[in-house]
Amino acid sequence: MREIGVEEFVNRRCQLMAAMGDDAIAVLAAAPLKTRNRDSEYPFRQDSDFHYLSGFPEPDAVLVLCPGAEQEVVLFCLPRDPAKEVWTGYRIGPQAAAEKYALDRACSLDDIDSLLPPLMKGRQRILYSFSRSDAFSRSDAFSGTETSAGAQALSARIRGWRQALLGQERHAQRVPQQEENLDVLLHEMRLFKSPAEADLMRVAGALSAQAHCHAMRRCKPGLMEYQLEATIRHCFAEQGYREPAYSTIVGGGANGCILHYTENRDELCDGELVLIDAGCEVAGYAGDITRTFPVNGRFSEAQRALYELVLAAQEAAIEVIRPGVSWNLPHERAVAVLTAGLLKLGLLQGELDTLIAEEAYRPFYMHRTGHWLGLDVHDVGEYQVQGRWRDLQAGMVLTVEPGLYIAPAMDAVDPCWHGIGIRIEDDILVTADGCEVLTRAVPKTVAAIEALMAEGDA
Ligand code: GLY
Ligand code: MN
Ligand code: MN
Repeated sequence: MREIGVEEFVNRRCQLMAAMGDDAIAVLAAAPLKTRNRDSEYPFRQDSDFHYLSGFPEPDAVLVLCPGAEQEVVLFCLPRDPAKEVWTGYRIGPQAAAEKYALDRACSLDDIDSLLPPLMKGRQRILYSFSRSDAFSRSDAFSGTETSAGAQALSARIRGWRQALLGQERHAQRVPQQEENLDVLLHEMRLFKSPAEADLMRVAGALSAQAHCHAMRRCKPGLMEYQLEATIRHCFAEQGYREPAYSTIVGGGANGCILHYTENRDELCDGELVLIDAGCEVAGYAGDITRTFPVNGRFSEAQRALYELVLAAQEAAIEVIRPGVSWNLPHERAVAVLTAGLLKLGLLQGELDTLIAEEAYRPFYMHRTGHWLGLDVHDVGEYQVQGRWRDLQAGMVLTVEPGLYIAPAMDAVDPCWHGIGIRIEDDILVTADGCEVLTRAVPKTVAAIEALMAEGDA
């Protein structure tokens, strides 16, 4: 299984600590285990920030970064407990964790209330994520009970530790006075992918592409949407990637016009299109591909006209991606192509520039052309800096995913277009002199799609 090497985690922590300043301390919590029902839990997925800095894969853990002359990185995690591990699975335990993740110290989570407050002493600022409000640990780690009633958000725990320190310290100024949002520094780091991260995203893109190809080959009228979802998930799981990066969308016909359609329960019908939005998660990194193709393997005239318009918009958007161009330029290019095409096909009437300025395309294209991609499918990182769209830079990864959606309820539109929902989405790495399409292995021209579907899955 591919993953990031431990030196890279060490480097990330050093980079963050240098940016924080010596008078600060940062505290991060692992993701909690979430109950699905009664005593069944959802598959555990580590919090992306916590993973980015530690690589540590368990819930019930806290990472503390203390920069400065006495720089120290401390992990609190569950102690080994063979009796419990028989029921809940292996734990790494503090001793092995310190070595494996190259930490200065790792301690039992049971000791956090006594060991963490002294780490805050003498520091002015405490950094933690303001965007997370989930409880950071099961309360059994703190109170000895098996219920989660006592679990608290990290912010509440931090206030408790500050309070405890104030109780012990005669000099209030030796207790952090200021709380700051760790997201600001950390998410800017996550926006720029290292070569090792780019490699993992290449794998995520390639495996996602392979799964889409299988679905295209297998598709035929009478199949159910969930059967194509099963094909996709089977491809991921067979390679050891058991959880997709997000809920798979398989929408036949008008279902393709519902942007977050995940029920995937209808039959795929002759003469309709099917839209599949699915991505593999590789070592935490997301692939995110959408393809739209005819259920019976041949585009109708109306489907083809709209499909080629969306494809032209997508290609125009990708073409401008390189360092130094505005984040918004690909969107502007896509919108210009889509609006001109809608005008030509008679779906819009008026003057091109006015239609663009007035966003007349919005009933047919209601979302933006892409988003950052990384450990989260809608990844972190600001899109604007000081009120202006930021420029693209090498190492950023974004999606380009224009679409057109003509729901049957659009009465004012010629019924020949009804029930056509199209999106074409690829993942793009900005390189030093242009860009690399990480998901290029899945076809998207009409001819290439029809040829692949004609091969079938035999
Ligand atoms: N799959 C979610 C998106 O494309 O944004
Ligand atoms: Mn996307
Ligand atoms: Mn997508």
